[in-house]
Amino acid sequence: MTVQVFDSDLALAEALATEVIDAVARRPDTVLGLPTGRTPLALYEAIIRRTRRGSVDWSRVRTFNLDEFVGLPPGHPGSYRAFMEARFFRPLGIEPAQVGFLDGGARDLEAECRRYEAAIVEAGGIDILVLGIGVNGHIGFNEPGASLQARTHRVALEERTRAANALWFDGDIARVPTAALSMGMATILAARTIVLVATGEEKAAAVRGMLEGPLTTWLPASFLQLHATAAVMLDREAAAGLSAASAPALS
Ligand code: GLP
Repeated sequence: MTVQVFDSDLALAEALATEVIDAVARRPDTVLGLPTGRTPLALYEAIIRRTRRGSVDWSRVRTFNLDEFVGLPPGHPGSYRAFMEARFFRPLGIEPAQVGFLDGGARDLEAECRRYEAAIVEAGGIDILVLGIGVNGHIGFNEPGASLQARTHRVALEERTRAANALWFDGDIARVPTAALSMGMATILAARTIVLVATGEEKAAAVRGMLEGPLTTWLPASFLQLHATAAVMLDREAAAGLSAASAPALS
C-alpha cells in the first residue's frame, strides 16, 4: 500500500479533492464509492468549493455508498442517505438516478444486499472507492470478529461503533441503530482504485495495525494489503503510531 502523510486534514482533503475531480474530468462517467462519517466532510466540502469555482461535470457520475443503517424511516436525519444528500449529492446536483444506496428500510434485507451487488456490477464496478476507518479497524461496517463476509450483508454493530456514530443522533447512543447493511470485503477489494483516509490520533492504532500488522479479521482494514494499489492518506496524528519504515515524509 502506498502511504502519504499530510501536514493537516485540510491539506489532505484538498489533495484528494484534486484526485477525484481530475478523475471525473478525465472520465465523466466515473463510478465513485463513497463513505460517510466525520473524515470525508472536509473532502466533500473541498469538492463542492472547487466545483462552484470551476466547471466539473457531475451529471454522468455514478455513486455507491459503502453502508447504511437498518431500520430508519426514509429521510431520517441520522441515515447515511440523508448525510450524503445534504453534504454531497444536492450541492453537486447529483440526481437520485445517479445514486446507488442501500435501503436499510427494505423488508427483505438479503434481497436488498443482492440487489446492491448486482447494481454495482451493472454500473461496471467501482472506479474509485474512498474509505474511512473505524477506531476498531472496521471499513464500511465490516466489524472485527472471527470471520468477515465477502459480499454486501447485514451487520450487528459493535457498541464502540454505535458510540462513534452517536453524533449523527444528537449524541444519544440509544437512538443509534443496532444493525446496518454494508458492502463486504470482496465488494470493497474489487474497486479499481482504493483510497483510505484517516485523520486524528484516535485512528493511529488502527492505522498502524492496518499497515504493519498481519492480515486479520480482527482488524478488517488489514485486508486492504491484498489490494494491488490501495493508497492510504493520513494526517500527522493518524500517522503517529507508524514505524519509520512505513511512515513517509510529509507530502
Ligand atoms: C462509520 C462508517 C464508516 C466510517 C467510520 C469512521 O461507522 N460506517 O464507513 O469510515 O465509521 O467514521 P469517522 O470518519 O466519523 O471517524
